[in-house]
Amino acid sequence: MMAPDQSLKKHVADLIKPDRVHRDIYTDPDIFDLEMDTLFSRAWMYVGHVSQIPNKGDYITTRLGPQDVIIMRDNDGEVNIFHNRCPHRGPHLCGNSRGNTKRIVCPYHAWSFTLKGKFFGMPFPEEYPQECLKSEFDLTRVEDVESYRGFIFARLKPGGVDLMTYLGEARSGFDDIIDRSPEGEIEIIPGAIGHRYRANWKMMFENLNDILHPMGAHASAATAINSVSNPAKLHPVTKSLVGSSKMMPVLPKLQSRITRYGHSYATGLISVINQEIPKGDHYHALAKAYGAVRAEEILKTDRHLMLIYPSSNVNGAQCTIRVVRPLSVNETEVWGYAFRLKGAPEEVTRNSVFYCNIATSGFSPVVADDLEIYERAQQVHERGMTDWVNVARGYRQEADEGRNAPPPATSEEYIRNQYRVWLEFLTGDAPCQA
Ligand code: FES
Ligand SMILES: [Fe+2]
Repeated sequence: MMAPDQSLKKHVADLIKPDRVHRDIYTDPDIFDLEMDTLFSRAWMYVGHVSQIPNKGDYITTRLGPQDVIIMRDNDGEVNIFHNRCPHRGPHLCGNSRGNTKRIVCPYHAWSFTLKGKFFGMPFPEEYPQECLKSEFDLTRVEDVESYRGFIFARLKPGGVDLMTYLGEARSGFDDIIDRSPEGEIEIIPGAIGHRYRANWKMMFENLNDILHPMGAHASAATAINSVSNPAKLHPVTKSLVGSSKMMPVLPKLQSRITRYGHSYATGLISVINQEIPKGDHYHALAKAYGAVRAEEILKTDRHLMLIYPSSNVNGAQCTIRVVRPLSVNETEVWGYAFRLKGAPEEVTRNSVFYCNIATSGFSPVVADDLEIYERAQQVHERGMTDWVNVARGYRQEADEGRNAPPPATSEEYIRNQYRVWLEFLTGDAPCQA
């Protein structure tokens, strides 16, 4: 990837207005490359959970911005991240999504590396000039790796604020999952489910906190669910995924929470509809561990679809995380993972897996609706049928009231906030400062 020229950065600055964004940000491959070189290389990106690599030699492979990487636990128990690339002629070192090994061995000519990424050996070393056998054969290490309560984050280019500052209030999305475990511990359930869509990655970030869209986009699914002979027998996760027009009057009473670095979530539904917490096995397990008051407080925590910009989406109540991987300007992959809460009844795990499947797989009654909308919009932008995309809902109100009060969840302020951060990363010389 060539270094972006300054004229492109200047052009990008013209594409973001306070209440609208230009279609080029969804369609221009040069802007996608700039996103990879700036936002996705300089922001803290969620890459995995420590429970995926509990033992020495365990590894997983994933994507960190434009780089394929290996996340490896070494013999000292430390977590290291390396570029998944052989320093000899460049192929991937690890083709598996996870595994355990004593050494990393390239499948091409069998150069080998320690679990700390140090060059270890090669066939016929005597045939190399002596000056070659140096640290340049070590794996390329990602230096900035931090974790929050077991959730591992990394950024390719060092510099900027630390992870705690970057996450800010969004840390509570991860607390929300862990707090629901009566033992205060969670583990990822092996395996993942995903899908790929033919549209720009930003459309998903614009959509997930859009609490109005279920009324339109998911109307057919809602109609189907409401017309079954005994809706009471539907799985509660299925019912919760589909908005209903009956919700419309309460939506303005919900709030949006947004943070300095583009994260956001909607909140307030449980208190607005005065929802009772079921006093089942999960409640009793939490009450035994933490007391009745705290158990109720935990189960009433209400952070809907926490967006961790620009990498992922945490769902505390459903104990799942979705990871967004942009593949090109008009192709995006989404992977869902479910967590097991240690000490919680098996039903909680089953619900997490069910939610993960239904919110991330192609057979979901709602995912297909969203993907259809993304792809239709992408086609309109690619054909140049529109110039500007409007993101003004709630804009006048914020101008009047200032940005100190939380905006209503019906506002598109969370999208405008994403684009302020996006612009800062893409055009700033020193983005991501406190
Ligand atoms: S390409 Fe890896 S050892 Fe040759
Ligand atoms: Fe949706």
